[in-house]
Amino acid sequence: MATDRAIACDAEMLSAQLQAMRDRLFSPTSKKALRKFSSGEAARLIGVSDGYLRQLSIAGEGPQPETGAGGRRYYALDDINGLRRHLAEQNPTKARHYLPRRDAGRGEHMQVIAVTNFKGGSGKTTTSTHLAQHLALAGYRVLAIDLDPQASMSALFGYQPELDLDGNDTLYGAIRYDDERRPLVDVIRRTYFDGLDLVPGNLELQEFEHTTPQMLAARQTGGDSKAMFFARVQEALQTVAGDYDVVVMDCPPQLGFLTLSALCAATSVLVTVHPQMLDVASMSQFLFMTADLLSVVREAGGELNFDFMRYLITRYEPNDGPQTQIVGFLRSLFGDRVLTAPLVKSTAFSDAGLTKQTLYEVARESFSRATYDRAMESLTAVNDEIEGLMVKAWNRAG
Ligand SMILES: Nc1ncnc2c1ncn2[C@@H]1O[C@H](COP(=O)(O)OP(=O)(O)O)[C@@H](O)[C@H]1O
Ligand SMILES: [Mg+2]
Repeated sequence: MATDRAIACDAEMLSAQLQAMRDRLFSPTSKKALRKFSSGEAARLIGVSDGYLRQLSIAGEGPQPETGAGGRRYYALDDINGLRRHLAEQNPTKARHYLPRRDAGRGEHMQVIAVTNFKGGSGKTTTSTHLAQHLALAGYRVLAIDLDPQASMSALFGYQPELDLDGNDTLYGAIRYDDERRPLVDVIRRTYFDGLDLVPGNLELQEFEHTTPQMLAARQTGGDSKAMFFARVQEALQTVAGDYDVVVMDCPPQLGFLTLSALCAATSVLVTVHPQMLDVASMSQFLFMTADLLSVVREAGGELNFDFMRYLITRYEPNDGPQTQIVGFLRSLFGDRVLTAPLVKSTAFSDAGLTKQTLYEVARESFSRATYDRAMESLTAVNDEIEGLMVKAWNRAG
C-alpha cells in the first residue's frame, strides 16, 4: 500500500477507536457534563460561609441545591452563578464581591491572555484550560480559544475535531481573507461550564499560515488593502467584546502568523516553562524570535502593550535538585516576571487527562486525598495569582 494511504487508514482506525472510547466514557449522548459542587465548595466559590449558604437554602432564597444522601447539598455551576446574582442584588454595596465581572463603565477592558511557548509539552494547554475554567468558576464571563491545530484544548472540552467540526468552525473561519469569513459569534460554542464559551480548533487553523504569505505578496504588488494579518485576531475579538470579561488563548507550539496575530490581540502573555535545561535553552530561542518578529509587527503599525507578561513554571518537581536550580536561575534572571506559584507535576493532572478531564472536573475521590489536595493547592495558587494580575490591570483595589 502506498505510504500516504497507509497513514490515512491508520488515521481512520484511530479516529474510530477514539470515538468508541468517548462513547464508553460519556455515554449515552457522548456529551460531557460538569459535576455538581458540594456546599463547602460552593460556599468557597461564592465567597460566603457554609453556614450562610445553608441559611439561604433553608429560607428558600435564590437557586436551590439538590439534596443527596444524609442531607448533603450539591450545587450546579448555574445555581452558583444564580446565587451570585441573587446576593449581588440583595447587597448592592458588596455586588462586586459576589459578581466579579468587569465594569465597562469604569473603563475595565476585556482582557485577552495568550498562553504561549513554542516548546510542545511545556504545559500551555493544561495551563490555559484550567485558567479558563478557574475564571468561569470564579464568576467571570470567559471565552477560551483553541489556536492549536492539534486541538488538545478542544479535546479537553469533549470535542473530537475531525468528527465534531465541519469546515469553518474554528477561529480561522473568523479571520480568513476570503468571502467565506464568518462572524466570530457564529463560531463560538457554549460549553458545559456555565459562563465559559469555546472556539474549538482543528487542522484548518493551519490554513492561516498558507494564505497569509499570499496576502502579503498581493499587497506588495499593490492590490489589496485588507486588514494586516497581525490585526485580524484582535478585530475578530472586538466584535464580541461586550460578551466577555476575559479571553484565554491556547497558542500553537510554533511562532507562525497565527501566534503573532494572537500576541497582537493579547493584553497579557503567559510563557509556560518546564524547568529543564533543554526547555530553558529552547525558550531563549523562542524569546529572541518573538522579540524579533514582534518588533517587525510593531514597525508595521501593530500595537503591543501588555498589561503583564509572566513566566509560569510548569510540571515542577520540588524534590528534583536540577529543576530547583533552574527555577532559582530563572527567578534571579527575571525577578517578578516569574510567577511566585509554580504548577507542580502531579499524576492528578495527567490521570485526569487520560479521560479528557481537568482537575476541576474530576471528583476528589478519584485520587488519594494527598495527591488531589497537593495538585489543587498548586493550581489554585497559580490561578489566583493570575486572576490577581488581571484584576490589578483593571485598576481595582485588591
Ligand atoms: N502539572 C502537570 N503534572 C503532570 N502532568 C502534566 C502537568 N502539566 C501537563 N502535564 C501533562 O504533560 C503533557 C503536556 O502538557 P500540555 O499542557 O498538553 O503541554 P503543551 O500544550 O505545551 O504541549 C500532557 O500529557 C499533560 O497531561
Ligand atoms: Mg497544547
